[in-house]
Parts: sequence; structure tokens; C-alpha cells
Amino acid sequence: MAEPLPLCHLDGALLPLREARISPLDRSFLFGDGVYEVIALHGGYASRLHANIARLKRSLSELRIRNPHSDARWNELVQELAAANGGGDLYVYLQVSRGAEFGRNHAPLPDLEPTVFGFCAPLPATPAEVLEHGVACITAEDTRWARCDIKSVALLANVLLRQQAVEAAAAETILLRAGWLTDASASAVHVVIDGEIRTPPRSHQLLPGTTRGLIEELAAAHAIPCRSVPVSEAGLRGADEIWLSAATRGVVAVTHLDGVSVGNGRPGPLWRRMRALVEASWVRP
Ligand SMILES: Cc1ncc(COP(=O)(O)O)c(C=O)c1O
Repeated sequence: MAEPLPLCHLDGALLPLREARISPLDRSFLFGDGVYEVIALHGGYASRLHANIARLKRSLSELRIRNPHSDARWNELVQELAAANGGGDLYVYLQVSRGAEFGRNHAPLPDLEPTVFGFCAPLPATPAEVLEHGVACITAEDTRWARCDIKSVALLANVLLRQQAVEAAAAETILLRAGWLTDASASAVHVVIDGEIRTPPRSHQLLPGTTRGLIEELAAAHAIPCRSVPVSEAGLRGADEIWLSAATRGVVAVTHLDGVSVGNGRPGPLWRRMRALVEASWVRP
């Protein structure tokens, strides 16, 4: 992964990332008590920013963290940070924690000034090799908590699950909870069965991906069959196509799962079509 870009946002100021400091008593450090967003910008254009801001507000509200900014200010903050780092193709990482109190108390939830932090990094281009051949994934039991719909910074299970993929020389770990598909460690998962895109329904068990939302909108606009429906382990393993989606990847084909070919082992035709639609959506209208 490329290094972050030099300037960050911390509590209203732009400053060098290397000089940014927060209190060790910040609750995101002590308890993982904070939320985040990852916003992709292509040529300086953040096509899903509205969805990122909506999800950020929902995560804050579910955790009862005060939202420190209006939608307009969040929008501006993202644009300011991207522009300060030269714009172009990058992603903005935004984190909001409940803030720092003098002490360490689980509860009562203190009414603090939330800490707002953001930095940018170059958006990794999907390698030609991945577009041509797809990626290999492994599966694992979903060991995350019971509120995966909240984009919380408490990501230890995701980190350990992603490490399993790294150790297996795979791109991602696809998660199953009691025999049903949920998510991947840092992506949403879609399957194609009989020409229809299927994604597990939104619930507390998975993160409502902004790219998933985009795929659903594009499918509706182009009359591609697409449903939110539970996907069993057998459905996953027997799918004609499997896709991963995330803001920093777009949509990527999974061509091997636990060492077994998905479909014919090559990126499928519906993936090819959806990838083109997703890429077209990145262009400023
Ligand atoms: C667990 C999980 N599911 C899904 C996603 C995809 O979300 P988005 O498309 O908003 O990047 C992510 C992204 O980080 C994730 O961590």
C-alpha cells in the first residue's frame, strides 16, 4: 500500500500528518469508541460521498456519539482535505471518536467534543492482473461482534480475519456465520446465480457497503436481475460468479474460493458488465 499523503485534518485544522497528535485518553484509543468512513475520489470526484455521509451519521447515531458537523461541512471537509493533498485519485479516511475525557470510565457515556481526524492516501489502481484473472479468497467463520452494521473502528476481528487471507496468499477472507454468507473482512460479497446478482440482506450482521448500494442502483437502472436474499454456504460455493465490492476496489471478481475454481475459474460476464458500469459512475457528470 502506498504511503498516506502529507496533510491531515485534525479537529478543524489542516496539518502535516506526521505532526498530528491526539490524547492517549481519547476513547477511540482506550475503547475503540469511534466510527470511520473511507471515501474514494476519482479525479477529485467523490461519487458516493452522499452515501458515505449518510452511513457516518447512522454509525454516530447508533453509538450515541454527537455528530459534530452538518452534511455541508462534512462535504467541504472531505473536499478541502483532498484538494490540500493535490486532488486526483485518492481516498479520504475519516474518523470520529467520542472524544477524550480525563479518566477511563466505560459509562456513563460522557458528553465530549468528538475528535475528528482525516487523512488521504493514493487510491490503489486495480492491477491489470486482477482485472484479467480475478482474485483468490478463503472462507472463515465470521468472528465479528453482533453490530457489524456500524462502521466502528473496533476492527480486531476484521484484522485477524484479513491476516488469515494474507497467510493463505489470498486477497480476502469471505465470512460465513452459521452457514450463511455475511461479508468479507473489508468488502461486501455478491454472488451471481442463474444470471441474478444476490447479496445478503442488510442486517446487524453486515456493513451496508456504499459500493453495494451503487451496484444495486446500477443493476436497477440497467434491468439486471438483483436481489437482497440470504446466501447459504452451498449457494456461495456453487455460485456462477462471486464478487467483492468496496470503495477502494470497486468490484472485483473472485475466481478461486478455498482453492476451488468459481464457475469456470475466470471473471464472469456479469462481473465484466458491472465493472464497466461502476467505472463509468466514477466519472464526474
Ligand atoms: C466489512 C466490510 N464490508 C463491506 C465493506 C464495503 O463498504 P464500502 O463499499 O462502503 O467501501 C467494507 C469496506 O471497508 C467493509 O470493511
